[in-house]
Amino acid sequence: MPDTLTKLAYQTFQQGKQAFGYTHKTLLGRIREVVSPVEPGRTSEIPTATLAILKQRLDELTEVDWQDADAGVYPKQLLFDNPWDDFFKYYPAVVWDTPSVWDRSKKKQYQDFGTDVSTEGYPDYYLQNFHHQTDGYLGEMSAHLYDLQVEILFNGSADAMRRRILAPLKGHLDHLPGFPKVLDVACGTGRTLKMIRDTLPQTSLHGVDLSPTYLRKANELLSKEPGTLPQLIHANAESLPYLEGYFDATVSVFLFHELPAEVRQTVINECYRVTKPGGVFIICDSIQKVDTPEFAPMMENFPTIFHEPYYRHYSTDDMTARLESAGFRDVAVSNHFMSKYWVAKKA
Ligand SMILES: C[S@@+](CC[C@H](N)C(=O)[O-])C[C@H]1O[C@@H](n2cnc3c(N)ncnc32)[C@H](O)[C@@H]1O
Repeated sequence: MPDTLTKLAYQTFQQGKQAFGYTHKTLLGRIREVVSPVEPGRTSEIPTATLAILKQRLDELTEVDWQDADAGVYPKQLLFDNPWDDFFKYYPAVVWDTPSVWDRSKKKQYQDFGTDVSTEGYPDYYLQNFHHQTDGYLGEMSAHLYDLQVEILFNGSADAMRRRILAPLKGHLDHLPGFPKVLDVACGTGRTLKMIRDTLPQTSLHGVDLSPTYLRKANELLSKEPGTLPQLIHANAESLPYLEGYFDATVSVFLFHELPAEVRQTVINECYRVTKPGGVFIICDSIQKVDTPEFAPMMENFPTIFHEPYYRHYSTDDMTARLESAGFRDVAVSNHFMSKYWVAKKA
């Protein structure tokens, strides 16, 4: 397909996902107003001007995503990668689960786990219904619904935000001989590992996560297509089960806003320990208040609407200072749409 057509197809695809996410949230929001309204004063109205800035930033993300694919940083097919099977299989369950999400939110039930879910051995900070999700990160169904829920939350841009780590990662690994080792810390359902494998097939990939069900889901995704199967380990990122200096690169996507401040530092220290001297650590997470003060009302609403108990602290946390205190140097920071990136080097 000529490039202009591929670009048009990609833009149309993204617009379709945006429209879907927006429609889903609008319709369910209207139903919620009637059946389970949010207490007045718990959230604030987002000004129209802010919504316009958001839309512009989303368009900019789509454009830079296209440009990287067009320049060969990653294959163009990644732009169209979408878990269609899961979409058709689990979208009804997302809708079906929504009233229990509202109910948990209304009753302020934040540590609500089914009797069939084992919560033993997990740190307290992790035993939360993040996003008011049924069974938090520990349920089987939660693992099936997560990617769909995140795509809806970000109007179809979650993968585009994850892909922003690929250019710095590739830039660092391209000149290395052999099979560089890469670790994804809190790999969740494996979407970042999959895009790294598609972009850098010569890497030896590893992932850790504290959720056994999300790891099973990651394994399902990663074993669907040919390519070396990443090694997945059920582990706490506070104590990574790897030797010092084992990885050429360590990455982490959407983890740090879900950790209490002191754990954030412990995990960064661990990422420093397992990264080789000369290696790189790349973080993708939420934007912070310092980057876009105009998004402050959204950042205030987010932890209330989605039960994100550590987000408020994260939103003003100096992550560069944390990276430097672990020993990282030359920390480069950038923003795209609703996300923020830190690329840090280990001397
Ligand atoms: C918001 S999800 C992000 C998942 C994935 N990286 C992505 O891009 O979608 C947060 C993930 O962090 C994992 N997690 C949270 N605390 C953790 C810890 N201390 N150690 C390992 N994984 C953790 C959760 O199980 C969950 O999969």
